[in-house]
Amino acid sequence: MTARTPQPGELEAIETASRDEIAALQLQRLKWSISHTYQNVAHFRKKCEGLGVHPDDLKTLADLAKFPFTTKTDLRDNYPFGLFAVPSDKVARVHASSGTTGKPIVVGYTREDIDNWANLMARSIRAAGGRAGDICHVAYGYGLFTGGLGAHYGAERLGCMVVPMSGGQTEKQVQLIVDFKPDIIMVTPSYSLVIAEEFDRLGIAPQDISLKIGIFGAEPWGQGMRHEIEAKLGLDAVDIYGLTEVMGPGVACECIESKDGPVIWEDHFYPEIINPETGEVLPDGEQGELVFTSLSKQAFPVIRYRTRDLTRLLPPSSRSFRRMDRITGRSDDMLIIRGVNVFPTQIEEQILRDKRLSGNYQILLRRDGHLDEVEVRCELQREFSGKLSPAERDAVGKELQHHIKTLVGISTQVAVMEFDSIPRTQVGKARRLIDERPKQL
Ligand code: DLL
Repeated sequence: MTARTPQPGELEAIETASRDEIAALQLQRLKWSISHTYQNVAHFRKKCEGLGVHPDDLKTLADLAKFPFTTKTDLRDNYPFGLFAVPSDKVARVHASSGTTGKPIVVGYTREDIDNWANLMARSIRAAGGRAGDICHVAYGYGLFTGGLGAHYGAERLGCMVVPMSGGQTEKQVQLIVDFKPDIIMVTPSYSLVIAEEFDRLGIAPQDISLKIGIFGAEPWGQGMRHEIEAKLGLDAVDIYGLTEVMGPGVACECIESKDGPVIWEDHFYPEIINPETGEVLPDGEQGELVFTSLSKQAFPVIRYRTRDLTRLLPPSSRSFRRMDRITGRSDDMLIIRGVNVFPTQIEEQILRDKRLSGNYQILLRRDGHLDEVEVRCELQREFSGKLSPAERDAVGKELQHHIKTLVGISTQVAVMEFDSIPRTQVGKARRLIDERPKQL
């Protein structure tokens, strides 16, 4: 029990409803969502027709398994607005996140979608222990990324005073925290430790920092990191989960009184766990890939969206909704580097743009202190090898670094080597990615 455990009457009725009530609401909303998508998204309708399934076939929640999955490829192939289920004059906002190459994936929201999102984020912040009147410092990035604006609208909806700091400028972050004395910080776990280091540098002890609650997500983190953050910032660290395709942050959030895995807001998102190889639905408790179907979204409904996140569903504890365990990995090769989603293919694309470089490369990931460092090693094509001056080689590296920064969104060290410097694999796949970051426990 903490002082922030919700009191009777503070929760929405559905958060403590019976499982039967929740299932009835889910079925009613699922029927709506499937029909809405079928009627308004040609791509989904075609996929259903291909499988010979129709919205009328949905009689029970289990019937959802008859419907097709949605993947990032579906989003990419319909870039930018092809999967929107409402005309563009009904879309109030878009957000975007990384695609596997080139173009990002784009999602849209009606006014009502944004309103729902604000409510779910307010519910999440309340679960994390936040209350009206708290001061909430938002250090998730603002912009196309859903973190900043998602947190912002939710904190406002709850009745907090919001400080829209966004990411970066660590010294300023700390100055504002010292001066404004916020109760809550919303930020990626890795960046929270950079902020903690700055407090330490200034000689400010954890018990002298005003923050009581931290709401951390957008990248994997484990119990070890939770304890470290709690000790260094003197707060309760709570896990929030979400993804752009399904809404943004606030698909699920942990409760401060139990800290036992994010509670999935099942009245708006229907979760399934599948075997990533076969697509078969697995029973609760079994580890597999998390799949979500939106139950209320208007502009960008998703039916059976394959998140690629590996986890399992856990029974209800502090609320009537099921929980998810921590994300243990992904069923694709997406990396999260300093909170930015990156596919190795995006980096490869930038290397291949330069005709002087061979397609043989390696990406090395290390952790320097609390932040990820990326080194891209590439090599010159045979005909350029040994023919460039050091300055020219340096320029090749700088150019690649610039393209990766502006188009993929991450800072890298680039090493341009002579032809044949990177080991070739004789058998099987090239070892393109060397991840030396410590595992999150
Ligand atoms: O990261 C939304 C978000 C913002 C969540 C702020 C929480 C806080 P995307 O950029 O689309 O959206 O990235 C989504 O990030 O599929 C997971 O792999 C990972 N992820 C998000 N939250 C967590 C978490 C936002 N709590 C992808 N633990 C997801 C582990 C997480 N991984």
